[in-house]
Amino acid sequence: MDDVRRADASDAHAIAEVIHYSTEDSMPWLGGRNTIEEDRWWTSNVLLHKTKAWVATVDGNIVGVVALHDGWLSQLFVRTTAQGFGVGHRLIEVAKRESPEGLRLWAFQRNAVAIRFLESVGFSLVREAWSTGRHAAGDAEGEPDKLYRWVP
Ligand SMILES: CC(C)(COP(=O)(O)OP(=O)(O)OC[C@H]1O[C@@H](n2cnc3c(N)ncnc32)[C@H](O)[C@@H]1OP(=O)(O)O)[C@@H](O)C(=O)NCCC(=O)NCCS
Repeated sequence: MDDVRRADASDAHAIAEVIHYSTEDSMPWLGGRNTIEEDRWWTSNVLLHKTKAWVATVDGNIVGVVALHDGWLSQLFVRTTAQGFGVGHRLIEVAKRESPEGLRLWAFQRNAVAIRFLESVGFSLVREAWSTGRHAAGDAEGEPDKLYRWVP
């Protein structure tokens, strides 16, 4: 991995592709997923306006993204072919560095890989719940979630 750097508006399409295809591969069971065009629009017009986002790059190409807002880790995605090489750990390190008061996040209960990862990097389960909000993946209302938190 080259580095992790702050995302800017010119990264929107590359970030959308990471989110879109990582979701497609990792959460094929998720209903109501967005099209790639919808994810591009949402990344440009919502994500990069409402959150602070960082991207991980390999050979200058974006392979991962983490986005934070108001103590929430709202997005964490690594391109499928780049998973298992420490990119997720590096993005979590940045998220923790930027969050001295701790972090919360929602994960889908069915997302076993992410849950194992989150628990291995120090997040602990607060409660189980039913999603009503908008996930990066789309409108996932009705998909059971888990609320996690990390305390420094
Ligand atoms: C969850 C996710 C972000 C993890 O990202 P990742 O880049 O695969 O994470 P890492 O590579 O840092 O760590 C994953 C595993 O690879 C291992 N690993 C780290 N560096 C490695 C290396 N150089 N070579 C091989 N394995 C390595 C880690 O030990 C870790 O194993 P563990 O979970 O048993 O401890 C990624 O799977 C993902 O994007 N999933 C889809 C989207 C998603 O579910 N997001 C989370 C929503 S809450």
